[in-house]
Amino acid sequence: MGRKNTVNQEYNDDYFNLLKCGWLDEDKDQIHMGGWKFTKNTLGKLRLNKNSYVLDICCGEGATLNWLYEKFGIKGTGIDKNKSSISFAKNNYPSTIEYKSIDLYNYKIERNKYDLIFGQDPDALGSYKRQVLFDNFFLGLKKDGIFIFNHWVPYIGCEEKQKKEFDKINIKAGYKSHINLNSDAYLLGLKKAGFKKIEIKNLSKGYENYYQKLLASYKKNKIDYSWLQDWLNFNKTSPAGVLFKCIK
Ligand SMILES: C[S@@+](CC[C@H](N)C(=O)[O-])C[C@H]1O[C@@H](n2cnc3c(N)ncnc32)[C@H](O)[C@@H]1O
Repeated sequence: MGRKNTVNQEYNDDYFNLLKCGWLDEDKDQIHMGGWKFTKNTLGKLRLNKNSYVLDICCGEGATLNWLYEKFGIKGTGIDKNKSSISFAKNNYPSTIEYKSIDLYNYKIERNKYDLIFGQDPDALGSYKRQVLFDNFFLGLKKDGIFIFNHWVPYIGCEEKQKKEFDKINIKAGYKSHINLNSDAYLLGLKKAGFKKIEIKNLSKGYENYYQKLLASYKKNKIDYSWLQDWLNFNKTSPAGVLFKCIK
């Protein structure tokens, strides 16, 4: 076996490079479930225009925001704590988008600014401290602004025992702050922040398909990222993978 990978130093360059090793041919620049097809189906259908302000939480290398800029002429902000991915975005996508390399937990959002806040596998939400972010995003949205994100966490109604099992998988992989990580906790947090019209979609099939492809690609490249196998085993008994859409 080749390199053994955990995310002990969460979201540093090693981690980002590890994710990029799993890029699927058709989905370069996208490090989330469903790649470009998913992005186009979810974000591409929203009503945006050149006056829209958009915030991408955990934007990675910024390709999605740049695509929204090219498609709709939006303005906006992309935030990721990985420094090299933000410098990639700044160097490759000069536009009306501002890219910031900062931990979202240290980000002071401008109030009532955004029409849309989105995250595609925004791992910052994994932290047990996530309520701060939900509250902040609520403040940052304009009235009727949309918050939408997808994540690889257990779906609504997961048994308590299984929720604990899922947390163990993440801790083992090095995601030290990822505790109480499941859709029920997200739903509670969104309601507490004040979001309404909360829509929830089970994406477990899509995630399973994506992670199987990633696992095959990692094996081919002799990279041992055992979190993927653990996630796939977990998904056999408790569906994981969710999309939330809600408004202020
Ligand atoms: C699975 S990647 C998704 C990247 C991007 N959304 C995409 O789909 O290509 C998760 C990203 O979350 C970022 N991240 C994790 N915790 C963060 C935090 N607290 N603040 C900002 N970014 C964070 C990581 O650096 C990484 O780029």
